[in-house]
Amino acid sequence: MVKPIKVGIIGCGVVGTGVVQILLEQKKLIQQKAGIEIEISAVAARNWNKKRFYEVPKNLQTTDWKKVIEKSDIVVELVGGVDVAKEAVVQALKAGKPVVTANKHLIAEYGKELVSLARENKTTILFEAAVGGGIPLIKVLKESLVSNNVEEIQGILNGTTNYILTRMEEDNLPFKEALKEAQEKGYAEADPTFDIEGIDAAHKITILANLAFGGFVDFKKVFVEGITNVEVLDIKLGRELGYTLKLLAIAKKNSKGQVEVRVHPTFIPMDNPLSNVRGVFNAVLFKSDYLGKLKLQGAGAGAYPTATAVVQDIVQLAKQLSCCGKTFDITPLGWKGKEEIPVAEDFYSRYYLRLDVEDKPGVLHQIAGILAEKNISIAGVLQQEWVLKFVNDKNSAIPLIILTHKAYESQIKEALKEIQKLPFVKKKPVLIRVEEERY
Ligand SMILES: NC(=O)c1ccc[n+]([C@@H]2O[C@H](COP(=O)([O-])OP(=O)(O)OC[C@H]3O[C@@H](n4cnc5c(N)ncnc54)[C@H](OP(=O)(O)O)[C@@H]3O)[C@@H](O)[C@H]2O)c1
Repeated sequence: MVKPIKVGIIGCGVVGTGVVQILLEQKKLIQQKAGIEIEISAVAARNWNKKRFYEVPKNLQTTDWKKVIEKSDIVVELVGGVDVAKEAVVQALKAGKPVVTANKHLIAEYGKELVSLARENKTTILFEAAVGGGIPLIKVLKESLVSNNVEEIQGILNGTTNYILTRMEEDNLPFKEALKEAQEKGYAEADPTFDIEGIDAAHKITILANLAFGGFVDFKKVFVEGITNVEVLDIKLGRELGYTLKLLAIAKKNSKGQVEVRVHPTFIPMDNPLSNVRGVFNAVLFKSDYLGKLKLQGAGAGAYPTATAVVQDIVQLAKQLSCCGKTFDITPLGWKGKEEIPVAEDFYSRYYLRLDVEDKPGVLHQIAGILAEKNISIAGVLQQEWVLKFVNDKNSAIPLIILTHKAYESQIKEALKEIQKLPFVKKKPVLIRVEEERY
């Protein structure tokens, strides 16, 4: 009889508890489907007096994560952060034990180091759950698209911000109220910084870019802008122009052989398949040379969807261990000779500009002049009276919306510096990037 594979879990919070429950309750099903037996060796948490949504058998509980590594064939890290989590992953890999993690922060910022360590120690690190929770995005990049060059990825990779933007659009809720509601419903953490500032989505798009383009993006070079400054007024004006606003994570090749990796509030046309992704859902579009466009959508977080993805990785490694006595990654990160991915410092996009200006003749003429000087052409102009009810400062300024054709971000920023100096421009201009490509 084949020996059961021993799996140890470090971290028993939202995801860890879900993994324990699935491995125990679905043990027979996994055995039937995958032909292997998985046994939990130990589960580490800090405080076992805490109530969890599934009761972990007493004989599996420990507070010593080092013991978990010793007792296991496969180590699962579900602590989060980059302190204990990194120490535990490093220790497991050095001991030659394969690791499964859901930790996007760790993989996005230390992936290169950890993958090298895994290789040196002839073992593997898998992280399907780190991006898109229960949506099998990494599996698609590694396996389904193995014969294709990925050209572009667009993703809604953070459920908290998508929920907030949906509520702002549906009910005109200001950002702060929408955030409060998300926290009350358990969709946002007490400290939501990583989500609302776009860092969580940036970690995830970095990981997808690494896999899609076969190297490592330096996370410090990723352009990140969150949603804290988004106003309902711009969401409504965007609708007038046929757009919806999403916190979009983008990774795409440019004509110079570099990769744009960026996260920012983005207007997308209503016929982009991501436009109807509402609430806490996540979704990703992959564009590749032979398959074309592929959209995947689902639960991007939560105990059971995320745990399902973690268990998928555990089963893959357990199958390898039981048949070959060792593990291997199907398409490892970092293709030979292509370790660093060159990240573009400037990017090419369309722009939505909101300029709060005095309502008097000649304003548009002067603004258009500055844009023309910087080689930026205007695609459309919108100035509507109904917006006045959204503007506090009724007497002095009304919003003038300019939609540009594609330009480099550096050109737009230079133009805005000049425009801001004009005496009739009353506030800092609002700039929102527009991804016009229709899918
Ligand atoms: N939550 C989601 O929906 C989701 C989705 C995708 C990915 N992820 C990722 O999954 C990972 C886990 O997230 P989570 O939401 O499950 O976190 P969590 O609920 O905060 O759980 C963290 C767990 O780690 C344990 N822990 C902390 N320090 C420890 C130590 N020194 N020794 C042993 N155990 C320790 C905690 O113990 P106590 O319980 O005793 O405090 C807790 O059980 C993170 O990397 C996160 O980014 C989460």
